[in-house]
Amino acid sequence: MEITVSDDISAEFLGLVQTILEDEEFCKLTRYRQHYQTTRFMHSLNVSYLSWRTAKKLGLEERVAARAGLLHDFCVYDFKDKLPKGQIQAFYHPKVAAKTSEERFPLYEKERQAILSHMFPLGPVPRSREAWVISCMDKFCACTEFLQVRVALARRNRVMVDCA
Ligand SMILES: [Fe+2]
Ligand SMILES: [Fe+2]
Repeated sequence: MEITVSDDISAEFLGLVQTILEDEEFCKLTRYRQHYQTTRFMHSLNVSYLSWRTAKKLGLEERVAARAGLLHDFCVYDFKDKLPKGQIQAFYHPKVAAKTSEERFPLYEKERQAILSHMFPLGPVPRSREAWVISCMDKFCACTEFLQVRVALARRNRVMVDCA
């Protein structure tokens, strides 16, 4: 898989998330649709980017915002698939994302907690300001995707993913 990004995307941001974007398993997120037209990969990348920018403006830990933002929906299955008995997707998938993330990458506890709480109020209360930012950006991106409004990295020609 090849990812081409436009020159105006910060190299500092890309440096923080590069190892994740190059991960074979993470790239499988391009296979899953999320919020109609978007892929889970692009949704995650946009949440990561906007969380990173917000963290930067607020003086928070940019690395946590970028990485946990990117990993928050790291679930390699279709959200329409049948779940284990008694599980509800909104509460279940953050746990899967945290588990998958820590199997693939060294994860700080703060990053793990932010992944687990991103669905708030469905699930645990975010424990850090970075986790609050990610939870808010997730909802913001979901809204733009439902409305098919392209913002940030989802704007035309900013990120091109070739899954060949
Ligand atoms: Fe999610
Ligand atoms: Fe999400």
